[in-house]
Amino acid sequence: MSNNLLEVKNLKKSFGGLQAVDIKELKFKKNQLTSIIGPNGAGKTTFFDLISGFQTADSGDIFLNGDDISNSQPYQIARMGMIRTFQLTKVFDRMTVLENLMFSGSSVTNDSFTKSIINTKKQRNYEIELKDKSYEIMEDLNISHMADSYARELSGGQKKLLELARSIINNPETLLLDEPLAGVNPKLAEDLLDLIQKLASSGISILMVEHNIEAVMKISERIVVLSEGTLIADGSPNEIRNDQSVIEAYLGKDDE
Ligand SMILES: Nc1ncnc2c1ncn2[C@@H]1O[C@H](COP(=O)(O)OP(=O)(O)OP(=O)(O)O)[C@@H](O)[C@H]1O
Ligand SMILES: [Mg+2]
Repeated sequence: MSNNLLEVKNLKKSFGGLQAVDIKELKFKKNQLTSIIGPNGAGKTTFFDLISGFQTADSGDIFLNGDDISNSQPYQIARMGMIRTFQLTKVFDRMTVLENLMFSGSSVTNDSFTKSIINTKKQRNYEIELKDKSYEIMEDLNISHMADSYARELSGGQKKLLELARSIINNPETLLLDEPLAGVNPKLAEDLLDLIQKLASSGISILMVEHNIEAVMKISERIVVLSEGTLIADGSPNEIRNDQSVIEAYLGKDDE
């Protein structure tokens, strides 16, 4: 039995002739905040798609807490405690902030929602609980004043916050964050960063794809670097800062 949170072996995904992901071996420990960085098109989002079940690998194995999830569906992986956010947010524009949260909160819970349909009193309690929890999270994120606003009225940065809120309502063991700071104003980015750190210290394992290198260097315990689908470096922020292959990948070898 493995002590790793997540483990991938010989993981490959190509699109036509393009090898988007080709990772021989990569392991993530529990309770760590790891960032995954790399130039545009490095395969970071595709890697998230594969480990969260949104795309199927061409070959290779993926284990979550020792269980083979290589062929699992996104909802199954979410129920196993690994929840992701998207580079382009997927909040429901036609729902309010509160409705977005309550909807997400009810979608992953194993069977209490179905049970509650046949038990009105239970359903009532369940809804109250979910609503309380939604408000708790909104207060933590300073968005409770927007509870009744439609998601479409939110700024890009506020949508990012809502997306994060939706992912934490399900008490994830692991969070996959795809560019949580992209398009977010500096003040909100700082708040988001604090929040991500808080979530990490509360015991949630976090994998974060992010282009904001300053933020990555500040909060990551470990940094994994992808380039053209492959793993080119793996280490502490200090090790990565001074890694020649990382500098080259970002500069582009052809342009030197
Ligand atoms: N559905 C798809 N069909 C064809 N090509 C794709 C598809 N998804 C990704 N790719 C290609 O695979 C490569 C990796 O893309 P991916 O989105 O994983 O990169 P990324 O590291 O997340 O980049 P970014 O930092 O710009 O978000 C890119 O060359 C991209 O164009
Ligand atoms: Mg991406």
